[in-house]
Amino acid sequence: MSYSYQIRSLEQYQAVYQQSVQDPEGFWEGIAKTFQWHKKWDKVLDWDFTGPDIKWFQGAKLNITENCLDRHLAERANQPAIIWEPNDPEDHYRVLTYKELHFKVCQFANVLKNNGVKKGDRICIYMPMVPELAIAVLACARLGAIHSVVFGGFSAQSIADRIQDAQCSLVITADGGYRGNKEIPLKNVIDDALVRCPSVTRVIVLTRTRMAVSMIKGRDVWWEDEIKKIETQGNPDCPAEVMDAEDTLFILYTSGSTGKPKGVVHTCAGYMVFTNYTFVNTFQYQRGDLHFCTADIGWITGHSYIVYGPLSAGATTVMFEGIPTWPDAGRFWDVVDKFKISILYTAPTAIRSLMGFGLDYVKGKDLGSLRILGTVGEPINEEAWHWYHEHIGKGRCPVVDTWWQTETGGILISNLAGVTPQKPAHATLPLPGVQPILVDEKGEEIHGNSVSGNLCIRFPWPSIIRTTYGDHERCRVNYFATYPGLYFTGDGALRDQDGNYRITGRVDDVLNVSGHRIGTAEIENAINMHTGVVESAVVGYPHDIKGQGIYAYVIFSSSHVDENLSRRDIIQTVARIIGPIAKPDKIQFVSGLPKTRSGKIMRRILRKIAEGETQNLGDTSTLLDPSVVEEIKNGKV
Ligand code: WT7
Repeated sequence: MSYSYQIRSLEQYQAVYQQSVQDPEGFWEGIAKTFQWHKKWDKVLDWDFTGPDIKWFQGAKLNITENCLDRHLAERANQPAIIWEPNDPEDHYRVLTYKELHFKVCQFANVLKNNGVKKGDRICIYMPMVPELAIAVLACARLGAIHSVVFGGFSAQSIADRIQDAQCSLVITADGGYRGNKEIPLKNVIDDALVRCPSVTRVIVLTRTRMAVSMIKGRDVWWEDEIKKIETQGNPDCPAEVMDAEDTLFILYTSGSTGKPKGVVHTCAGYMVFTNYTFVNTFQYQRGDLHFCTADIGWITGHSYIVYGPLSAGATTVMFEGIPTWPDAGRFWDVVDKFKISILYTAPTAIRSLMGFGLDYVKGKDLGSLRILGTVGEPINEEAWHWYHEHIGKGRCPVVDTWWQTETGGILISNLAGVTPQKPAHATLPLPGVQPILVDEKGEEIHGNSVSGNLCIRFPWPSIIRTTYGDHERCRVNYFATYPGLYFTGDGALRDQDGNYRITGRVDDVLNVSGHRIGTAEIENAINMHTGVVESAVVGYPHDIKGQGIYAYVIFSSSHVDENLSRRDIIQTVARIIGPIAKPDKIQFVSGLPKTRSGKIMRRILRKIAEGETQNLGDTSTLLDPSVVEEIKNGKV
């Protein structure tokens, strides 16, 4: 059995693409019809990019979980929906069939209801990568409660900021989580966060590690106890809340060029249609395939291609709790071998890291079940692409290089596995319905091929960001104001002689460290929290494994007793304020920063020095004090 809208040849791609541009509404309507609706739309699309104000499938009524669960029960109740591989390979793996997943989602939705959750409430989820995380996400969607998943690597401060911004009423967490040989004290972190979050009146705590946790009377309850209450009440069924197409499905916080992360808002219908369509087409999903996306559900990749895309397609999705290098650097290949994975979707940083461990860890693993490989999150260099293609795919699996963003909800530019041509280090062509263009600094469109510019999209696709939670103006300014009439991605790109796109990286003050997005301003704010710091400037530099490393120039107020100790304290401060993912890789103490007469830091110069390029620093004559540049060059770490 296949999907009616799955593209199977290059010619078909070209024809479908053309149709999607000529008649976007007809195109998306045709796909949307294949889903389950309580009521179909009155209008397919209404949009303007100035507000912005974008509405897909207006008037339609649905619940995404009926499309991810209920509608599959007739034909594949006993097919695995989720296969879960624990952190420790000695522990038992788990399989949840569609029937079981449906049951558990309804059951936990009833737990949420018992705890006062209603449609529209915001729920913060801070959990390890266990099936209950997917269950919690889907249970929220079942009730129309808005989930805000926060990645387990964020600090208490970061969680508190996100909870306060969304005014969450309930938190779902676990006692702890396992990652490699570490135990992460999740509930402890939540307790620290909640000191500053009066909006939260209830915390549901799943048992995972059974490490010691504080359980506060009247606020904290155990997941397992709450499930027991549902069992004694007898009826586990939970009818799905009927949602409007444009009701909010979830909020996901992501970093921008300002200090404060923003809550990207996605809505029900468009997000469902687009993640399903892009899943089925990019990965060429076939019935029986096992799809293994190695991301964490705390990021958009996990939302779209572990949970919603695969499940709405009735696929089997594989969830992995651990890390690629534990117990050793062969873990991914063990998982592929163990379950006979067909589709592997991972990040360039993981590939580069595993590449560094050598082929010994690949040897002896049966990777013959693999059919398709994918990458996401950052530009993939040619060397890593070839290693992946040759040593993991054995030269016979197409590699899809999927470019997209938290704000886009799903894949916008990628080859379709085995259907459209692949090209190392190139995301290649837009998905149907996606209309990318390149513009110059002034916003003039750059036509033709073999050109480069800033990447914009000129027409809405169904899962485009609708707003930034609580601050629509911020959404407008960030994405729709730089080039009026266009969605601006923040990325630079090349278009080769054949029209293939190659994403070169961010052109704003956002870093991409190991595929994780962090704003330089955010890191600077955290560094500046350290008592000894007067001022700082953060830039990215090329890093062999992480893609980009974090380089911080810091003005310190007093002389150091020990420079390295000061460095460690600053790093610790950043880990406390944001989380370990934002720790600077290099810290250089400086006596001044290169500033223009108006006080603006000239990051271009700092970036070049961090990259090791000290020769062509360009014009420094506009600097207030050009001599600091010499000092900074000489003190490079
Ligand atoms: C930024 C978005 C997409 C989900 C994971 C990251 C970079 C993403 C690619 C790719 C080159 C890529 C871009 C983008 N990026 N995929 N295939 N090739 N760059 O989501 O955290 O929202 O980050 O990641 O710079 O803007 P995100």
